[in-house]
Amino acid sequence: MNRMSVLVSPSLLSADFLHLGRDVERINDSRADWFHLDIMDGVFVPNLSYGLPVVSAIKRAARKPLDVHLMIVQPERYIDAFRQAGADILTVHWEADTHLHRTLQSIRAAGMKAGVALNPHTPVYLLEDVIREADLVLVMSVNPGFGGQSFIEEAVGKVRKLKELIGKSGSKALIEVDGGVNAETGRRLAEAGADVLVAGSFVFNAPDPGVVIEELKKL
Ligand code: DX5
Ligand code: ZN
Repeated sequence: MNRMSVLVSPSLLSADFLHLGRDVERINDSRADWFHLDIMDGVFVPNLSYGLPVVSAIKRAARKPLDVHLMIVQPERYIDAFRQAGADILTVHWEADTHLHRTLQSIRAAGMKAGVALNPHTPVYLLEDVIREADLVLVMSVNPGFGGQSFIEEAVGKVRKLKELIGKSGSKALIEVDGGVNAETGRRLAEAGADVLVAGSFVFNAPDPGVVIEELKKL
């Protein structure tokens, strides 16, 4: 069956921060579609990553859209700040937001694509009443907070269920999967209906990130 090739969004969490400009150029020169940026607050997840000044700096060098994944509490407080820093897609966690419907609308009103992320324990059906407000659903296939963890199998079934839910609702939301993605898990996710694959360690631990990205694009 002919399927559009999957979009690839390399996570800079596994880049070499001492040579971030070089790694951004590698992604610019590759077949990757987006840059995946992981923002952590040490509260929603037990880790800290980087913040707004780094996002702005990446924006100046990036020639592809910035796909920003907020792993922070009260994400609605930072919508305008991330827009100004250059986010094109802004994803918040279902578990981190009491007023998700409003937050997704505010993200769109600020001129970005609105995404909602689900932790591994959060079932897909909880999106039923908000899916029309989302341009993207991010299925976490690891517990968020760290790169290099192993893939949680249930994510494949969640992608299938999500595909069905999106189809029924008439929404055009893309399905993105994040965590433990490599050529093998990526192939199964793509077959299940994933539109976008995030990969951090698989891309940046490779001798040539461009080759690995090419491999994911062929799935
Ligand atoms: C984890 C992040 C991921 C992470 C993925 O909290 O959301 O984007 O960088 O890393 P890998 O691909 O190494 O699992
Ligand atoms: Zn992420």
